Amino acid sequence: MHILFATGNEHKVSEAAAILAPLGHEVEPLLIQGNPPEFIEPQAEGIEEVALSKIEQARELVMGTKLEDSIILVEDSGLFIDALGGFPGPYSSYVESTIGLPGILQLMSAEPERGAEFRTIAVISIEGNTITETGTCRGKISKQLSGDTGFGYDPIFIPEDGDGRTCGEMSSIEKSSISHRGRALKAISELLNSPSK
Ligand code: IMP
Repeated sequence: MHILFATGNEHKVSEAAAILAPLGHEVEPLLIQGNPPEFIEPQAEGIEEVALSKIEQARELVMGTKLEDSIILVEDSGLFIDALGGFPGPYSSYVESTIGLPGILQLMSAEPERGAEFRTIAVISIEGNTITETGTCRGKISKQLSGDTGFGYDPIFIPEDGDGRTCGEMSSIEKSSISHRGRALKAISELLNSPSK
């Protein structure tokens, strides 16, 4: 299937394209007049609410255009740190752009309990239906920034299904084989490929 991913984050598009290509789906960015959509993110308690708001906004943007019948993907993700009560969670974008990764390391500097998880909610709009899947990736917050691949919090997140490196030290294929996004998108693909979708 040909899927249009509504996001301004090109890293997410390339990860999704690589995850879904072997499963028979082609992913391209959704562009409205040549630009990715800019969503108004509701100040929400959970990433589910944000993802559902994004799919509603994306549908409205394509309504009445030649893309109206396209299959559209949106997702919302966040980093949930156990010792901080799940912070930054739904505020992950804001926190990354304000205190940044050094600020998170500072908040965690005296904290021995470093467990955390990434969560993704992926939503697909297809033929008037909405399919939602979640993906999580457990791990821990590193003591320092390591690696320069990936994006966002990757340089401070060590997935427990990995070998001790941060996501920022992994190739995109390594990261996606165990990541929250990889898991959510594989689950979506299974639903898309099932006859009773
Ligand atoms: P959003 O889903 O684009 O709203 O992302 C929320 C925040 O989580 C942003 O600060 C992203 O950079 C970060 N983020 C989302 N996905 C990932 C990931 O796969 N690795 C690292 N950071 C991520």
